[in-house]
Amino acid sequence: MLLESKNAVIYGGGGAIGGAVARAFAREGARVFLAGRTRATLEKVADEIRSAGGMAETAEVDALDEQAVDEHAEAVAGEAGSIDISFNLITHPHAHGTPLAEMALEDFMPAIVTATSTTFLTSRAAARHMIRRGSGVILVFGGSGEPLRDYYIGGTQVAFDALESMRRQLSAELGPHGVRVVTLRTGGVPDTIPEGMEGREAIVELIEKQTMLGRTATLEDVGHVAAFVASDRARTMTAATVNVSCGALVD
Ligand SMILES: NC(=O)c1ccc[n+]([C@@H]2O[C@H](COP(=O)([O-])OP(=O)(O)OC[C@H]3O[C@@H](n4cnc5c(N)ncnc54)[C@H](OP(=O)(O)O)[C@@H]3O)[C@@H](O)[C@H]2O)c1
Repeated sequence: MLLESKNAVIYGGGGAIGGAVARAFAREGARVFLAGRTRATLEKVADEIRSAGGMAETAEVDALDEQAVDEHAEAVAGEAGSIDISFNLITHPHAHGTPLAEMALEDFMPAIVTATSTTFLTSRAAARHMIRRGSGVILVFGGSGEPLRDYYIGGTQVAFDALESMRRQLSAELGPHGVRVVTLRTGGVPDTIPEGMEGREAIVELIEKQTMLGRTATLEDVGHVAAFVASDRARTMTAATVNVSCGALVD
């Protein structure tokens, strides 16, 4: 197994991508610590993992709360002995559908503030423990994308671009301590769009049409790649972005 004896903290572990990554990490032998604001959704994922024979713990943590993030990381490192992997998969508030020229500042900023603040806080909390051990992996999700021409996404892409900048800076600062930082870049994962949502089919078709492979990444695909990147098999990879877009995004 790829992640045997690794401890992984997954913020947003009760969400679509966070849950899929948690299942994949647990399947590969990691003990996963799911953090989020709603116990019930975290416990649902944790129960599935435990039923399949994996190891999962949950904690209510608001990734915007500096003290809560630090105390949780401290508790995980204290109890488990290490934090080997940290992955922030929380959602960012967004106002889509309004052109930037017409958007209010208070609608533009929340995605950027949440993405950068929580990535800073969660990465910092993990890094402090990883530096002491001289190893670890911090994963980022989203990545840079082409500007969209036919859909208004407000501050969302700006937020993901900011995370790429943080990934570069963190890689440079943490590399000498043996800590890797890698982004997974996606063109959209249709499995995360709720069945029955208005316009779902059109969105899925749009994502599919943009790919070179004529199919899109599934949640399972994302989990497989994340598990590999988090594992020691990928020990050469840092300051890097891994493209999981089926060719929708061109590096
Ligand atoms: N789905 C895609 O195709 C796609 C593509 C590109 C990028 N992304 C990005 O990937 C991330 C995850 O997407 P997703 O589809 O898995 O979203 P999701 O299903 O909505 O899950 C996000 C999780 O984040 C948690 N969360 C939100 N705010 C939080 C906070 N302050 N502290 C702790 N947890 C918080 C939520 O749980 P609580 O509300 O209970 O805390 C939820 O479980 C998002 O940032 C999204 O923009 C997704």
